[in-house]
Amino acid sequence: MIQTEVLLNMPDDMHLHLRDGNILNGVVGYSARNFGRAIIMPNLVPPISTSDAALDYRRRILNALDHKSTFQPLMTLYLTESTTSHEIEKAAASPFIKAVKLYPAGATTNSESGVRNIKKSYHLFRKMAELDLPLLVHGEVTDPDIDIFDREEVFIDRILEPLRREIPDLRIVMEHVTTKNGVDYVKNSKKNLFATLTTHHLMLNRNAMLVGGLRPHYYCLPILKREKHRAALRSAATSGDPRFFLGTDSAPHLTHTKESACGCAGVFSAVNSMGCLATVFEEENALSKLNKFTAENGANFYGLKVNKNKIRLIRKSKVAIFPDTISIGNETITVFDPGIPIYWHIDYMINE
Ligand code: DOR
Ligand code: ZN
Repeated sequence: MIQTEVLLNMPDDMHLHLRDGNILNGVVGYSARNFGRAIIMPNLVPPISTSDAALDYRRRILNALDHKSTFQPLMTLYLTESTTSHEIEKAAASPFIKAVKLYPAGATTNSESGVRNIKKSYHLFRKMAELDLPLLVHGEVTDPDIDIFDREEVFIDRILEPLRREIPDLRIVMEHVTTKNGVDYVKNSKKNLFATLTTHHLMLNRNAMLVGGLRPHYYCLPILKREKHRAALRSAATSGDPRFFLGTDSAPHLTHTKESACGCAGVFSAVNSMGCLATVFEEENALSKLNKFTAENGANFYGLKVNKNKIRLIRKSKVAIFPDTISIGNETITVFDPGIPIYWHIDYMINE
């Protein structure tokens, strides 16, 4: 018999880009409707690299929300080569700041202020380990001689493994892991290594982006990989293993900046991630693990209580309709198209 209903604790999105200004105002409601909390990425221009900036940004996010919303933004600090120990201490002492984000310089959108020489940050990582402030890594090298499809695998060998050997007590999340190598590396680690997985990497492989025409709305970083990698990600997400949890990496860009000769990286999936994930878990015969992946594992990692509010997902015979785009003034942002019909509807919320 097919399961047509799933009751979940309100999910958390443990990797989210909300931007600022008009875009923030236009997108935040979609996350607030579907998620109880989210780990907010700090890659604004200029980057959110101090606790004061993170707390100001948090305030702007709260101001952009509907006044009835209970959505909680959990803030992160952008690691630069000028970050001080004092800033790390301030961040660790704040109840609103949950982690520090490492962008290798040049790896992705607004990463120019990121880290060039990782060794220069080791003293900060030691301090973070001492204060139990986790490090979130964009796990890709940027060396020009490394093929873009190999950036994650090489990052593990050259950057992550030496770092973990040197500072084993630092809790690390490999954000948006995209390869079987990444999944296996996390699974084989003894402690302190976790990973988030995105909606789009669970649904698509690189053919979706490249076969039959170039689809810029599927271009993201890390780039979509071949099918064997997607299969490994799906198996990790649906396994119930507490080390894997949801981070949608929903990353809004104005449509014209993606449909361009040099298009931006990012997939805006905040609108329909939950229906997409229910579809993935149903296909993998693992709906019973969806709560772990979306609501329990991430909360446990961050030392938070699982959300008490519930959402009910219902599989209907009619397809769930999502907008193709959302408006931002005279511009639009294109919504993630999973490429298959989604029958899972978020029916209602139960507040306790
Ligand atoms: O595709 C991506 N978009 N990957 C990232 O790492 C950053 C993000 C963004 O900020 O647009
Ligand atoms: Zn991201």
